[in-house]
Amino acid sequence: MLLQIKNAKVLVTGANRGIGNVFVEALLKNGAARVYAAARRPEALTALVALDPKRVEALPLDVTQPEAIAAAVTRAKDVNLLINNAGVLDFGSLLEISTAAVRRNMDTNYYGMLSMTRAFAPVIEASGGGAVINILTLVALASMPGLAAYNASKAAAWSMTQSLRADLAKRKIQVFGVFPGAVDTDMIRSIDMPKTPASAVVQAVLEGVVAGTEDIFPDPMSKQLYSAWKADHKAVEHQFASM
Ligand SMILES: NC(=O)c1ccc[n+]([C@@H]2O[C@H](COP(=O)([O-])OP(=O)(O)OC[C@H]3O[C@@H](n4cnc5c(N)ncnc54)[C@H](OP(=O)(O)O)[C@@H]3O)[C@@H](O)[C@H]2O)c1
Repeated sequence: MLLQIKNAKVLVTGANRGIGNVFVEALLKNGAARVYAAARRPEALTALVALDPKRVEALPLDVTQPEAIAAAVTRAKDVNLLINNAGVLDFGSLLEISTAAVRRNMDTNYYGMLSMTRAFAPVIEASGGGAVINILTLVALASMPGLAAYNASKAAAWSMTQSLRADLAKRKIQVFGVFPGAVDTDMIRSIDMPKTPASAVVQAVLEGVVAGTEDIFPDPMSKQLYSAWKADHKAVEHQFASM
């Protein structure tokens, strides 16, 4: 059964800025019944809660902290849609970047996503089924050497997405993977290149989820490079390697 956003009860990680912030706004516009806006600094959520205090609940949540995840489960018992959006990106090649930065990318982008999904799968199942949306990236498909730790964490998260999709289908939980190209947020503020507004990406994701599209390429750059990758993945690897 396809998920509807209207009346959905949704938890968004990393809701205080960027794509997560826009997700909360769009979910409200599309009729979600309740949105748990989760952030490491809940004080940064005041403006979002003020949009509709009856429907938006601020949740303190660092996705790398098991106790915080457990506390979120006890607060958000009615969730039927989990949006694993929180993420970090450290720049640098694999031979030069600090091991701490590599671990930070894996802890947040892979283990954080995994821990959240494990914790909330029983909640979604108890709500009668629903969905998990994993925000991945185009560079999960082919590595950009200057983002090496990030690529690896997101490629691992893509693999996780496929495994979880098979496991959770039996529990009436759909798992979506989203592969954006460059999006206009803080994450790649320092890179001068064409970027898609977060609002367009979020709109495409919600349309994809309602249509039941498991792998969502939500912007022109991601669509174009996905076509190129399907036609000749080595050509995309070489193109990214030269950037
Ligand atoms: N921007 C792009 O071009 C692009 C492209 C493809 C995919 N994505 C993905 O889209 C997602 C959102 O990114 P964005 O562009 O909106 O970036 P952003 O503006 O940098 O926002 C990242 C969000 O993740 C949160 N976060 C980081 N670590 C966290 C943790 N341990 N626990 C909880 N929250 C944490 C941040 O919270 P704080 O404010 O506390 O740091 C912030 O709310 C990420 O998964 C990213 O990889 C982005």
